[in-house]
Amino acid sequence: NWSSKDQKLKLIKDIREQVGNNKVICGLSGGVDSSVVAQLLSKAIGKKLICIFVNNGLLRKNEEKQVVNTFKKKLKINLIYVNAEKEFINKLIKVSDPEKKRKIIGNLFIKIFERYAKKIKNVKFLAQGTLYPDLIESKSVTGSQTSKIKSHHNVGGLPKKMKLKLVEPLKFLFKDEVRKLGLELNLSKDIISRHPFPGPGLAIRMPGIITYEKIKILKEADFYFIKALKEYGLYHKIWQAYAALLPVKTVGVMGDNRTYEHICLLRAITSEDGMTADFFDFPRGFMQLISNQIINNIRGINRVVYDVTSKPPSTIELE
Ligand code: XMP
Repeated sequence: NWSSKDQKLKLIKDIREQVGNNKVICGLSGGVDSSVVAQLLSKAIGKKLICIFVNNGLLRKNEEKQVVNTFKKKLKINLIYVNAEKEFINKLIKVSDPEKKRKIIGNLFIKIFERYAKKIKNVKFLAQGTLYPDLIESKSVTGSQTSKIKSHHNVGGLPKKMKLKLVEPLKFLFKDEVRKLGLELNLSKDIISRHPFPGPGLAIRMPGIITYEKIKILKEADFYFIKALKEYGLYHKIWQAYAALLPVKTVGVMGDNRTYEHICLLRAITSEDGMTADFFDFPRGFMQLISNQIINNIRGINRVVYDVTSKPPSTIELE
């Protein structure tokens, strides 16, 4: 009877044996996997773990504050917070090609991570939240369908030239086991059961060119959507949900005035593993409510549409 507690103790013991007295760095994204890795390593080696969290300016509203609050202030983990918002957005401005966006963000993340990692003396190890399915996927000859279609970016995408040995404590676990382990490690349910969020963040939820203005609008739309899902008890029934900003303006009317603003697309799906997905069937009342909230509270959007495609033929993200 292999409990989460046994699991935790075994992993902590293994980590201590592997890294000894050496320092370990870890890219923290705030997602489930990297959060569990960071907390597990912190329990195992304390301040010899140094986490690096890069704000690329494409995170959800207040995400960077929440990550710093949880990991640095509450959990007392050694955390370097890098605000690279301007660096990312300046590189992305005027870029509209989806693959170019992904490449720019992925490469810049690695560059910035290395820049900060180099400043830490005597690091021997890099911790990553690789899961068992990732391991199988990267070993298969064809690769997953997703990885062929889009170049994926995540905190695991760091190059071999860093010459660090890998610590991958979750590499034999499935997602549900990682979640149980996270709860055993006293991470909040908020962190453990969050929806996946892609490495390139809001950039791939904003087809067309990226501007500061669009990012601002999209952060707000996403904020209202996720907040409403939580308030109405729908968040945990959904595998992933987000708002996107379409590069199309349409005419509307507000009060006595004609408006000409962007379309906000909402997507919410059910899925087992993200490889296939179906759209979530919202009650009409909820759709009406969220549409009103978004349009009444956010300047720059005058129409809300719901994506009713499954995957395949669509992907979960828009780019
Ligand atoms: P798609 O759009 O390919 O997305 O159906 C499948 C799942 O993967 C997430 N996703 C990413 N995750 N880095 C990530 O860590 C990425 O570059 C990336 N692109 C997509 C997406 O949010 C969905 O959960």
